[in-house]
Amino acid sequence: MKIVIPAAGQGIRLRPHTHTLPKVMLPVAGRPIIGHILADVARLDPQEVRLVVGYRGDTIERYAERAFPDLPIRLVWQKEQLGLGHAVLQALEPGDRDEVLVILGDTVFDVDYARVVAHDSHVLGVRPVPDPERFGIVELDAAGGAITRLVEKPAEPKGNLALVGLYFVRDGELLRKALAGLVDDDSRTKGEYQLTDALQRMIEAGERFVPYQIGGWYDCGKSETLLATNRALLDLRPPENTPQGVERSVLIPPVHVGPRCAIENSIVGPHVSLAEGVTIRDAIVRDTILADGARVEGAVLEGSIVGPEARVLGRARTVNLGDNSEVTW
Ligand code: G1P
Repeated sequence: MKIVIPAAGQGIRLRPHTHTLPKVMLPVAGRPIIGHILADVARLDPQEVRLVVGYRGDTIERYAERAFPDLPIRLVWQKEQLGLGHAVLQALEPGDRDEVLVILGDTVFDVDYARVVAHDSHVLGVRPVPDPERFGIVELDAAGGAITRLVEKPAEPKGNLALVGLYFVRDGELLRKALAGLVDDDSRTKGEYQLTDALQRMIEAGERFVPYQIGGWYDCGKSETLLATNRALLDLRPPENTPQGVERSVLIPPVHVGPRCAIENSIVGPHVSLAEGVTIRDAIVRDTILADGARVEGAVLEGSIVGPEARVLGRARTVNLGDNSEVTW
């Protein structure tokens, strides 16, 4: 089996963090988003993992080589951003009939991948959503066992079952031909070559697709969802290591403390992820992501994302307040 992870997106909605890092490299729950996906698929023992990269792909390459030296990873460069279908097409080789598992690089799933790939039919990860016009939408037959139609971001959706970004196709060549057909016909939806449209062509050609309900679907498209994903993954996969470099402080779990961090005189947690070399002094930090080398001193932080080497410096204050007092700075 080949695994294809489209990871070329820039993540404009996550600026300023994505000025220097591609979206999939933003840290959540102790590792970049793509690190969670690679750790999950490593258990499947794939023949090859193909990362489709574009914007700042070199940072993804360096990370993948360092963090997953034993995984057979190959980088595929997408030079033009012509849509998800186009990205996947770059990673498929003519004549290769191996199974293909496509996982969107900015999404972490809580799913047993081994069960997904054990199916005899093609499989699409799905979940009901409250806002179906924002997604690829799945229509099912009367029994609910097979997918009859796929529509990318329909203006008037029939149902609310969305494609979550997990696709298992049992014959890579069929998918490649369907995608290449879209490009040959210059068939675009919303200006892009859509993976959804290629899969719909396969359904029209008689291929059987079944839905697979995904319980945990953690998206990282904007800062609120990045923080929500950080909370969910810290709860789901609590860090096991004992944090080092903690003095006169209280850690309220779950908290991920990366290597070479220093926490002094502070209250940290719950739901805080510290990457490498983070300093927190005289501070209260909760529900926050601090990237490599970030520093927080004399501040109260909540629901925040602080980028690499960035500093949040407040003034240490001393008060001696009696009953019923209120101080607002
Ligand atoms: C892509 C797919 C869409 C799917 C969604 C899941 O859309 O095109 O079918 O439902 O991912 O997140 P995008 O989020 O890239 O607009």
